Amino acid sequence: MSILVTGGAGFIGSNFVLDWLAQSDECIVNLDALTYAGNRENLASLAGDARHQFVQGDIGDRALLDRLFAEHRPRAIVHFAAESHVDRSIHGPGAFIKTNVEGTFSLLEATRAYWSRLDDKDALRFLHVSTDEVYGSLAPDAPAFTETHPYEPNSPYSASKAASDHLVRAWHHTYGLPVLTTNCSNNYGPYHFPEKLIPLVIVNALAGKPLPIYGDGQQVRDWLFVGDHCSAIRRVLEVGRLGETYNVGGWNEKTNLSIVHTICELLDELRPSPEGSYKRLITHVKDRPGHDRRYAIDARKLQRELGWRPAETFETGIRKTVAWYLDHQDWVQRVQSGAYRDWVARQYAP
Ligand code: NAD
Ligand code: DAU
Repeated sequence: MSILVTGGAGFIGSNFVLDWLAQSDECIVNLDALTYAGNRENLASLAGDARHQFVQGDIGDRALLDRLFAEHRPRAIVHFAAESHVDRSIHGPGAFIKTNVEGTFSLLEATRAYWSRLDDKDALRFLHVSTDEVYGSLAPDAPAFTETHPYEPNSPYSASKAASDHLVRAWHHTYGLPVLTTNCSNNYGPYHFPEKLIPLVIVNALAGKPLPIYGDGQQVRDWLFVGDHCSAIRRVLEVGRLGETYNVGGWNEKTNLSIVHTICELLDELRPSPEGSYKRLITHVKDRPGHDRRYAIDARKLQRELGWRPAETFETGIRKTVAWYLDHQDWVQRVQSGAYRDWVARQYAP
């Protein structure tokens, strides 16, 4: 048996692939277009492992999808592939519509064609990995997002993810496709591309560069260690109820400014700078247009129905993450210089 993972060279996808193969011998076909966010170096430890087959390609390429389904006959599809960075979506929304909306449509149609020919229609699963951002912004004292919260996406990124969630839902209701959707809060951990807040702050601090805080830094995000997101996805895939959506979160609401303070304090402890606390580098910059003020996830449905619990607290997860970046500065350097593309070409040369 095998599963098809899309976007498995990105941040969460590569963590998921590594976790999966650490716990199971079930093969993974990993389809990834290797945009700037895809990095095969994340999967270097799987070189020569026959359980992992990497395919460079686009989820919008229907002929490729049909070929992969016919060749591998996966029992599940775990769909991570997306354009994922809100700031990029503000400056160039086209790629977000192409991959997140049209790409998901193409993947759903290819899955439906494959599924319609299966004898056992209940055996397949299509798990769509989505985000809490589809629910929009919460007032300071409002209860956390449940699965029935209205969709109110505010950025081109969240609107494109909301559109993809609606397509997945419709393919279940109209065609009966066996889908599951997860809506997760902000992830952090190893292999996080250093354009996102947590890795950016770690990397900039170590380089003595400014730590940019958008606006007043009082925006709230709800943070989950990436390994806990991966375990939630595995759980939903195993025992989730078809057609259901599950919110995933770790009950870790923090302001951006407090996150940056925590990172600075950890670096002050683990890699003290002769110039004094890293907090001296904190710099308030212009706010993100349309910046959502607060996200918070109510993950009780996933806990109650499927028995999932996060293993990490924010304190343990952020310490592991800072330590990982300290230990993997060569990875950071290759990502920042773009050299990870050459490194990968050398590793995988025929
Ligand atoms: P990422 O940007 O790190 O990785 C995305 C991966 O998808 C990359 O490897 C990229 O090469 C690949 N990709 C992009 N376009 C593609 C295409 N057209 N065809 C095939 N592959 C393509 O993203 P991430 O942070 O790992 O997020 C993964 C998924 O999880 C996304 O769907 C995102 O919306 C969702 N999500 C992310 C977070 C978070 O905090 N990062 C939280 C909740 C949900
Ligand atoms: O909530 C889940 C989402 O979390 C995912 O769906 C997205 O794919 C993922 O990128 C993330 O989106 P955010 O916009 O919340 O993440 P980001 O790391 O870009 O920003 C986190 C917060 O920090 C946000 O309020 C903006 C702020 N920020 C970000 C950057 C990059 C700063 O203040 N300064 C920065 O330089």
